[in-house]
Amino acid sequence: MTGLTQNLKETGAAIGEVLDELLPEPDGPEARLIEAMRYALIPGGKRLRAALVVTSAGMFSVSRSSALRVGAAMEMVHAYSLIHDDLPCMDDDDLRRGRASTHIQFDEATAVLAGDALQTLAFEVLADEDTHSNPAVRLELIRTFSLAAGVHGMAGGQMIDLEAEHHTLEIAQITRLQRMKTGALIACACESGAILGRAPARQRQALQAFAHDLGLAFQITDDLLDAEGSPAVTGKGVGKDAAAGKATFVSLLGLDRARQQAQMLADQAVAHLDTFDDKAELLRQVARFVITRDS
Ligand code: IPE
Ligand code: IPE
Ligand code: MG
Ligand code: MG
Ligand code: MG
Repeated sequence: MTGLTQNLKETGAAIGEVLDELLPEPDGPEARLIEAMRYALIPGGKRLRAALVVTSAGMFSVSRSSALRVGAAMEMVHAYSLIHDDLPCMDDDDLRRGRASTHIQFDEATAVLAGDALQTLAFEVLADEDTHSNPAVRLELIRTFSLAAGVHGMAGGQMIDLEAEHHTLEIAQITRLQRMKTGALIACACESGAILGRAPARQRQALQAFAHDLGLAFQITDDLLDAEGSPAVTGKGVGKDAAAGKATFVSLLGLDRARQQAQMLADQAVAHLDTFDDKAELLRQVARFVITRDS
């Protein structure tokens, strides 16, 4: 097992435990909502965003419990984005992580509420003293998450993405939308570790530059998997982008050039890590994993 595979496995298990504590088995009249939130969160997917938080935090000697709580908050925002992304009014996907999407398992109203409540729970966790003793650090995390999830980040990107089903977009526009809908949360995950560790500006900028390229490489690979993957491996529907007439790197450039673009971005991402030496070895492995993954 490579260092990264082992690391993803360990982080995934630790994050699962933290999420289980933060959102215990339900009781009381709102039990159905909590069940739906837990369904979308546990066991989860690759936990890549949480791993990015934990890995970047590890470069700046952050306590493991702080990193895991922020990683858990990250996975909550991510799970919320996926629940809403799968709704009939958005991508209308019935399959997620190898099982029924949340709105199929429960119903649409419950899925909408589960997404809403996961997002607010993430901010509750970030604001909690247990996440970091310094209120300035907590505030900066909250601000960074807000920017990444909001109108100029994930939500704004999702809006443009839906419009991309009806318009021909140019490569610069697709780049921007993918950086917003997917890259912003990935960048937030990398930056969170640096915020927790009060990293010097130069190192923080290097991480931002890494994440900027990584996020786009990640989404191009997601689009390649939509075109070439199989549901048995990806755990979600495939061929959906083409069926919806969605403009992506694959629709615009074709498979080979899209693949080359992802590879080029991953190389570029790694080059931004030169300033860190061996400390960033896991992040270098993440860049390779992001473009070679099959799910
Ligand atoms: C899927 O993200 C949604 C995109 C932003 C493309 P992941 O591929 O990280 O999904 P999980 O968390 O592993 O299921
Ligand atoms: C989703 O992009 C990005 C989000 C912000 C959730 P996709 O719609 O391509 O993600 P999948 O393929 O459904 O996971
Ligand atoms: Mg979508
Ligand atoms: Mg989708
Ligand atoms: Mg996709």
